[in-house]
Amino acid sequence: MVSDVVGFAAATYLRGINWVALPTTLLAMVDASLGGKTGVDLPEGKNLVGAFHPPRLVLADPTTLESLPQVELRAGMAEVVKAGLIGDEHLFDLCAQGWQALYQHWDEVISRAMAVKIAVIEQDPYEKGQRAVLNLGHTVGHAVELASGFQLRHGEAVAIGLAIEARLAHHLGIAQEGLAEKIEQVLQGLGLPTKIPESLDRRALCRAMGVDKKRASGQLRFALPVRVGEVQAGVEVADPNLVLSGIL
Ligand SMILES: NC(=O)c1ccc[n+]([C@@H]2O[C@H](COP(=O)([O-])OP(=O)(O)OC[C@H]3O[C@@H](n4cnc5c(N)ncnc54)[C@H](O)[C@@H]3O)[C@@H](O)[C@H]2O)c1
Ligand SMILES: [Zn+2]
Repeated sequence: MVSDVVGFAAATYLRGINWVALPTTLLAMVDASLGGKTGVDLPEGKNLVGAFHPPRLVLADPTTLESLPQVELRAGMAEVVKAGLIGDEHLFDLCAQGWQALYQHWDEVISRAMAVKIAVIEQDPYEKGQRAVLNLGHTVGHAVELASGFQLRHGEAVAIGLAIEARLAHHLGIAQEGLAEKIEQVLQGLGLPTKIPESLDRRALCRAMGVDKKRASGQLRFALPVRVGEVQAGVEVADPNLVLSGIL
């Protein structure tokens, strides 16, 4: 959260000054500190105020994770699982092995997840196309996060989004057989949620799906998993309510 606010301040102060990111959460190391998207949320939705302004340097020191609460570490793992799904089968396998393996391999886990995101943003620095694969889990995830009144952590909402979008990909015939179950198992194995909480207002969720900025010309666009290491971006689904009623 700090790097989003600081990055946005750096983007606008004196029309832009250099800044350095020293991420101290897992989520910030593998995701938020990379790619230059800085922004803040408004009550109406996620990241509605922001700018593209990458830091000059990102310095991720895994020893800072030693003091990070377990619940925050777990939330960050949702973005690591996402990175594995987008482009690193070995990373996904490490996630599937559970916490013990992760604790033994933080350096590798973090640098592999960073490498996936860096490879994508280098191809598409201003989100013209290819970068949309990074939205995996986020079309539903952002809506769930917003509908929860930001009570769910970003990573928790993304875990739910990953699971639901994988089921959607299965229904649409995009996902390899068994992939949705595999993704759900890995997330659950890490203690992450995969279902929309009972307490969450379904109507608020449908509304939230509608205001998500990924909506293009009245249709919702999803980045959906095909197999571990491959994501298909720009999959259009006409009716968000249909999507929700079909998968909730
Ligand atoms: N800009 C992007 O590309 C991008 C990408 C992904 C997520 N995000 C945003 O990032 C935000 C979530 O960031 P986050 O997960 O880093 O959460 P956070 O910044 O809210 O930090 C979580 C908690 O951990 C504490 N903390 C941080 N480092 C610690 C450490 N080393 N030891 C002990 N406590 C520590 C913080 O004080 C805070 O209470 C969301 O708002 C999300 O939308 C942005
Ligand atoms: Zn995210």
